[in-house]
Amino acid sequence: MEKTPLEIIQTLKDVPAMPNVIIKALNIIKDDKAGTKELSEIMSYDQALTSQVLKLVNSAYYGFAQEITSIKNAIALLGMTQTKNIVIAVALKPMLTSQCGRDMWKHSIKAAIACEHIAKCTDTIDSADAFTIGFLHDIGKVILNLSSNQKYQDVMNRVKDGEDELVAEENVFGINHTEAGFLLVKRWRLPVLLANCIKYHHDPFSSSMQKASCLIYIANQICQPEENNIDKRALEEFNIDMSTITQFKEEVNELMESFFVTFNEKV
Ligand SMILES: [Fe+2]
Ligand SMILES: [Fe+2]
Repeated sequence: MEKTPLEIIQTLKDVPAMPNVIIKALNIIKDDKAGTKELSEIMSYDQALTSQVLKLVNSAYYGFAQEITSIKNAIALLGMTQTKNIVIAVALKPMLTSQCGRDMWKHSIKAAIACEHIAKCTDTIDSADAFTIGFLHDIGKVILNLSSNQKYQDVMNRVKDGEDELVAEENVFGINHTEAGFLLVKRWRLPVLLANCIKYHHDPFSSSMQKASCLIYIANQICQPEENNIDKRALEEFNIDMSTITQFKEEVNELMESFFVTFNEKV
């Protein structure tokens, strides 16, 4: 029987598409004190995950001269948070890809890289937090797809016909992906900053954490294939203009290339 997005969120731990390793990885995001032992432990359950993480850590994106051969070694060189980011990105790949297609995973990675890059350049929020915010911003779409792939197809058709994406989701599912994502991360008890950014990434001015919400809003905008139509108030928040956005776009594309080489993917 088909479940509503809300039912999905309530029973997510029982959904087969949600492997144990993801639950464990998410527990590690919310636990600030989680250390090398916990991270190495979740990796030990999944050899394929470990080898993909090590491949990425050794990619041009991180640019280390010496080869990193273990998770412990990665944590020592990259730091705990960066290593967590990589584990999350790799661990969630199968779920994002199976529910929403490869483009969704690529979009999530690109937004993560964009968010991290803009956070670094503008020195606003912690750039390591920014990566996770970018990566998870559209996680609500996974919930909508888990609820019904067929209905999500209907949403996409409506968008193709010119309906606004959030409105189409509300019409078809009764909830949009920002709200579904917000409820999900709240249920997972992930940090408030993350929940807030997910909820307001299309409407940053309604957020009580405006700077961080504007950051993910801009990052998401620069990841769109079409011409950007960024609200001026968001640019003012960071004292930047459209020429900086063009520059960010180029830099993010370059970073993406060095990231994706590892996965044999094209940007
Ligand atoms: Fe979105
Ligand atoms: Fe997005």
